[in-house]
Amino acid sequence: MSLDIKTLVDKYDTPLYVYDFNNIAKRYQELKGAFDGKKSLVAYAVKSNSNLAVIKHLAKLGAGADCVSIGEVKRALKAGIAKYKIIFSGVGKRDSEIREALQKDILLLNLESEAEMKRVEMIAKELGIEARISIRVNPNVDPQTHPYISTGLHENKFGVSIDSAKRMYIYAKKSEHLNPIGIHFHIGSQLTELSPIVEACEIVADLVRSLKAIDIDIKFFDVGGGLGVVYDNEITIKTHEYADAIIKAIKGLDVTVVMEPGRYMMANSGIFLTRVLYEKQNGDKRFVIVDGAMNDLLRPSLYSAYHKIEAVQKDGEKTPADVVGPVCESGDFLGKDVPLPPLEHNDILVVHSAGAYGFTMSSNYNTRNRVAEVAVLDGKDYLIRKRESFDDQIKLEEVCDTSWL
Ligand code: LLP
Repeated sequence: MSLDIKTLVDKYDTPLYVYDFNNIAKRYQELKGAFDGKKSLVAYAVKSNSNLAVIKHLAKLGAGADCVSIGEVKRALKAGIAKYKIIFSGVGKRDSEIREALQKDILLLNLESEAEMKRVEMIAKELGIEARISIRVNPNVDPQTHPYISTGLHENKFGVSIDSAKRMYIYAKKSEHLNPIGIHFHIGSQLTELSPIVEACEIVADLVRSLKAIDIDIKFFDVGGGLGVVYDNEITIKTHEYADAIIKAIKGLDVTVVMEPGRYMMANSGIFLTRVLYEKQNGDKRFVIVDGAMNDLLRPSLYSAYHKIEAVQKDGEKTPADVVGPVCESGDFLGKDVPLPPLEHNDILVVHSAGAYGFTMSSNYNTRNRVAEVAVLDGKDYLIRKRESFDDQIKLEEVCDTSWL
């Protein structure tokens, strides 16, 4: 991102998320372009970064949305994503969420259990409609990624086995209130190997063929998200190889390929800026204490995820330091053994690859205000979320009457 970081920090303060909207568009177009000439829908995984401006930007480019709560569905609609491009997934949808999603007439409800299918059928019956559904299949393929973001094995809570999926499709086909038109899988996130994706595609494509033989016509073949990105020195899957492999696996099927990328579009379209508060040495250990913390960017603490960290316009011999935040947890760090030059109060650090699962996983832990978000498009910067204030944080508590205390 060619940005004047000092100017942004002077204007918006720290901690701060900054997103490169040109890069988001580039990534979207690259993926969509790889499927050129084929029926495809890139349904952006809203959970990776749900800022309305981000979704609106993608909506204008033609993207759909993959949502996992009615809140995300509402965000997608509000940002201008066409309802026929919105998918609602997730293992635990509440009745009210199912009802609202059906009323909003979105493309598909993605079902993850037989019990959920019965609920959807009942609610669709109450509403007097037919619910368009897809079923999330768990192909029992090892995606070779971090166990916390691995989802395609039977030991994970997601989806149903091929056999139950088949039973569910047969049931749905007979139901007056269910219309099974899609199939879905998502084996994990930050995938850097193509072979597990191909394996899953082949298993699921075979199921689609066997469903066709019994007159169940699947129109949407949803391969989920999961495309990995470079955080450090990973070798990632090339989009054209990804597309070619999927197209090959579904040969002979007349389906629209749906993808649900989040990280692919957002991770390296975002940085997190934080300010040095102090340096300190505990014995041999060097700490750089910054104003950003685990509540702002949880990935390092939660997954020991690596994010490259660099000092802005600072020279000097680099020595390893742990970059830590002010939160009262030993697990509050943004980086360990980061090679950094000597730093002073108010120096700025850039935490790279922070555009996906950064702000969306942030919290108010330690009554810290959620940070501001800024978009940069064609060299111009725009505030897309205000920094939270203390009043914002407490306003839902202030409405309570506490005279009983
Ligand atoms: N579709 C489904 C059904 C998913 O569960 C996910 C992510 C995606 C799509 C998008 O995956 P992506 O393309 O972004 O890899 N918080 C973790 C990632 C959790 C991913 C959960 N599911 C992290 O920070 O690494």
